[in-house]
Amino acid sequence: MNRSAGFLSRHRRRPLAGAVVLLFGLLVAGGAYTALSPTSSAGAAQSDEALIAQGRELFIAGCSFCHGVNGEGQTDVDDKLIGPNLVGVGAAAVDFQMGTGRMPLAAPGAQAPVKSGAYSDDEIAAIAAYVASLAPGPAIPSEADYSTEGMTAEEKEEAIVRGGQIFLTNCTACHNFTGAGGAMPWGGKAPRLLDTSPKHIYEAMLTGPQSMDTFSNGNLSPEAKRDVIAYIESMKEQPGYGGFSLGSVGPVGEGLWAWVGGIGVMVAFAVWIAAHTTRSSKTKGNKA
Ligand code: HEC
Ligand code: HEC
Repeated sequence: MNRSAGFLSRHRRRPLAGAVVLLFGLLVAGGAYTALSPTSSAGAAQSDEALIAQGRELFIAGCSFCHGVNGEGQTDVDDKLIGPNLVGVGAAAVDFQMGTGRMPLAAPGAQAPVKSGAYSDDEIAAIAAYVASLAPGPAIPSEADYSTEGMTAEEKEEAIVRGGQIFLTNCTACHNFTGAGGAMPWGGKAPRLLDTSPKHIYEAMLTGPQSMDTFSNGNLSPEAKRDVIAYIESMKEQPGYGGFSLGSVGPVGEGLWAWVGGIGVMVAFAVWIAAHTTRSSKTKGNKA
């Protein structure tokens, strides 16, 4: 005992011994990890089930009050809908609604406000997995679906031009030419798009929140969606074409400025002229 301890401490002082001990430790830890971590597909399936079970629990606690215990939707005593049916809306809808902080809705109202999320990303993933397990629906897009990374500068330029055309025909009616947003009937609004992440833009097109149209992959191909995102991203980078943007809200805002600024100056000038003519005619009158 004593002799072996003496042997170890004697040898540990050698510089090489430290490296050997470290290597040994790494081998043991690595071996244990390989042996214990679940690598088979059975293990993955089981963790999927666990994720769905966790998502169901979170859903019952935070969402079932409005959406029903099984996501079937819920009406109040007057038969008014307090939360729509979520069967078939897919993981993408949950990821969009929770990722932008629209859900959970605090109280039924005209339009779910965008706020910072009360749930962690893992919890959102669990709830999304649960809702996706109810019925097939659009999945959460992967980065490859919406990213323009890996394109050459020329390809990216072309994508932006194509995306701009698609944006003009499909999105400007509600979101304005510059993506600044606009008013919708019944007190709603189409939000500004320049603060939204590419993933959430993709999901918004895929799931059509509230009164927005749904641009399914059949209507608008995944490539076309990516082009639209490339265009919106390019608008984010452009500070504007010079001059006063007047808030970039389009003809109504510009008209208002023309009215207040342009006509205001003319009215002020007319008043000034009128004031001066009266005074001069008064003086004339006094003299006569
Ligand atoms: C106070 C009631 C309420 C609560 C709580 C609530 N929701 Fe909602 N939810 C609504 C209403 C109302 C709508 C429809 C309005 C809209 O789309 O803006 C909606 C819409 C949705 C949609 C969009 C459906 C579609 O067709 O695209 C999803 C997804 C969703 N909710 C998920 C959730 C999740 C997940 C939770 C829990 C974390 C939750 N909601 C909590 C009321 C609620
Ligand atoms: C009929 C009007 C309409 C059209 C057309 C429309 N949208 Fe929307 N969009 C809306 C409304 C309304 C909302 C807000 C929904 C909500 O708050 O639940 C919205 C929300 C969004 C959002 C979420 C923004 C955020 O961060 O809150 C994005 C992104 C978006 N739209 C992109 C698009 C794109 C891209 C197109 C064209 C392919 C498009 N929309 C076409 C009405 C429209």
